Order: sequence, then structure tokens, then C-alpha cells
Amino acid sequence: MTDHMISISVERSDPERGREPAIETYEVPAEAGATVLGALLHIYETCESSPAFRCGCRNQDCGLCAVDVNGRPRLACITPLRKGMVIRPLRRLPVARDLIIDRRWIMPFLERFDLFVRDGGLREWPPRLSAPAEHARLAACTECLSCLAACPSFEAGRDEIGGPYHFVKLAQLYWDPRDGADRRAQAALLGIARCPACRKCACPLGIPVYRAAVAPLAGVR
Ligand code: SF4
Ligand code: SF4
Ligand code: FES
Repeated sequence: MTDHMISISVERSDPERGREPAIETYEVPAEAGATVLGALLHIYETCESSPAFRCGCRNQDCGLCAVDVNGRPRLACITPLRKGMVIRPLRRLPVARDLIIDRRWIMPFLERFDLFVRDGGLREWPPRLSAPAEHARLAACTECLSCLAACPSFEAGRDEIGGPYHFVKLAQLYWDPRDGADRRAQAALLGIARCPACRKCACPLGIPVYRAAVAPLAGVR
């Protein structure tokens, strides 16, 4: 165990049991290269009642560890640990418990918009033989949902309001030469018309969400 310990704060809540959000403070080791996820794992291993959180790959590949750090969405596994950090669940999204986001709304969204390649005949002739570069960039999305937490328009629970994540999922198919559905019409149903005045989509993986997804679906540059 390192001698150098620092304090961090974690917001805890349990909506199902009526536990309101409250901040708890923990002492964690601050070794060189320490990350926010490392601190959460330390708390899990050493505290009897540790905050609930998700993680998987520990290498920015799975998208499960996204949390709010000092007011900004971050992937916990690649975010350097600093003294006094305040870690909360992603904003704007429903909380299942502590740092865990309730993701049960995702499947109904995918079903509502038929988010699979829908055979409607080729949209272009002659057909493109390969997907454009935008498709490859958007395919890197790990569904971490950080972009929703940073979108000023998105509101969880309102079906007519989409956010960057929704538009990335639609645009993955928009750029797929095999898909025959009208993805721009679907984006319009999710209120994409407001986006050209904003353009603030942000992704911790560097996916150009506005340029590769939102602008093409909105029909603007
Ligand atoms: S676009 Fe980026 S921020 Fe949004 S869900 Fe995908 S990986 Fe996460
Ligand atoms: S451009 Fe649209 S999707 Fe992107 S952050 Fe702004 S309102 Fe949200
Ligand atoms: S643990 Fe997989 S992205 Fe962080």
C-alpha cells in the first residue's frame, strides 16, 4: 500500500429504496498513473459498503465506466486521479444506483427506430462497394453515453428529444450502403432541427459526432 493517500468524493443514491443523492468521502491511494477507476476499485476492495459502479475492459473499449468527474463526463478507466475529485453518475440520465446509469431505455429506442440494416433496396445506383470513412468513425462508438450527459437539449424520458448517441446510431445506418430506411426522417422525429444552432456534441473517444452524424442527418454542413 502506498503512503500517499488522497480524498475523493462520490455521490451515492438508491432511487428504488428512496435514498436521496448524498456525497461520501473516501481515502484512496494516489500512485503514479492512478485513475478514477482504480480509485473506485480500491474502495470496492477495502470498504464494506462501496459505491456501485460499472466497468469492463479498463481500456476505453467497453464504454461501461463513464461517470461525471468534476462536472464533466469522463471514462473512469482513462481519467487520471486527482485530489478532491467529485465523482457522480452521468448527468441527464436516469440513475439505477450510485454511479450506475439505468440503461433499460436503450432497447426500446433501438426497437422503435428499427436500428438494424433494413432492406429497402439500394439507395444509390451504381451502388457503393464500400462504406464511407464516416461509417468507420461512427463504428468506434462504445455506447458509453457520455455525449448525452453533455448535450444541452437531451432530456431522458422524453421520446421526442434525441441526443448525440441517438444520432450516432441512426447515422451508422445512414452511411451503410445496404440500409434502405429513411434515417434522416427518423432523426427529424428526434428533434435534430435544433442541432445546427448548437454543434456542441462531445465524445471522449474523439468521434466527430457532429460532423459525421448530426450534420449529415440534419442535411447541413
Ligand atoms: S458517440 Fe462517443 S460519447 Fe457518445 S456514446 Fe458513442 S462513444 Fe460514447
Ligand atoms: S448539436 Fe444537437 S445532439 Fe449535439 S450537443 Fe447540440 S443539441 Fe445535442
Ligand atoms: S472500463 Fe471499459 S471503457 Fe472504461
